[in-house]
Amino acid sequence: MDGRQQQPQPGEGPSAQRAIASDFADRLNRVAPSRLGDAVGQLVAALHDIAAKIALTPEEMRAVVAFLTEAGHHADSRRQEWVLLADALGLSSLVEDMATPRPEGATPNTVAGPFYRADAPDLPAGANLSRDGRGVPLAVRGRVLGLNGAPVGGALVEVWQANGEGRYENQEPDRQPEHNLRGRLRSDAQGRFNFRSVMPKGYALPSDGPVGRLIARLGLCLERPAHIHFRVSAEGHERLTTHIFDRADPAIGRDAIFGVKPELLADFRPAEGAADGRLLDLKLVLCPLRQG
Ligand code: BEZ
Ligand code: FE
Repeated sequence: MDGRQQQPQPGEGPSAQRAIASDFADRLNRVAPSRLGDAVGQLVAALHDIAAKIALTPEEMRAVVAFLTEAGHHADSRRQEWVLLADALGLSSLVEDMATPRPEGATPNTVAGPFYRADAPDLPAGANLSRDGRGVPLAVRGRVLGLNGAPVGGALVEVWQANGEGRYENQEPDRQPEHNLRGRLRSDAQGRFNFRSVMPKGYALPSDGPVGRLIARLGLCLERPAHIHFRVSAEGHERLTTHIFDRADPAIGRDAIFGVKPELLADFRPAEGAADGRLLDLKLVLCPLRQG
């Protein structure tokens, strides 16, 4: 020993070494146990672990607080930056997957996303969802089946999608007719439903807020590959909320919200006899209602 005191390095000081997280856990252990307490305890442990591992500096901590503050300023009845954050971090898809496990053979569930409307119009079989006639024509022929392969008749099939420019009607009420590219159909006794529409285009999550800027700064992708949303409700079956994705979309491997699953990929094939039309055939397989 040469008697010289070693200076603590940033992140190694005695106060940083105090196990505040376990102190926090001890305090929680002394109060009535609850799920909230368990969740907050785990969150605190994970946050402290990360802060220690990366030796989080006060300046970085201020940047985190500024980010959270800005996200709060972008959260109101029209825009929800917190939901966007959960979407972009893959948390929304994880929570949805955990809440809606599906057996093999059933169509997987996904998040509904922010553009669903429960008040879409009821449409007859074969109706055209396009109210402005803009875009590449698409014919969709679907079947609703049970897990045993039997047709599910009388199912309510709700459909909504972006237009050929990657925009939903409720994003641009001044440019698209009300309820453009959305509607509610019923499957027939053979489980069949069909409608006409236009090819959807992929779109990007908003880049003008703190979440978009964070994802872009990380060099990650905000794109969502082209898709059509479906929600199918039928007696005796779990409700299915899902997307069907265009397998050919260049962004198919990098969906910004981690919603793509192999079973949800489909071919939007050129339609015979139509110069630029497309055809989509799909099956939506429901699973029986879980007991209890
Ligand atoms: C959507 O597919 O409409 C969507 C889902 C999550 C976030 C943004 C959009
Ligand atoms: Fe969408």
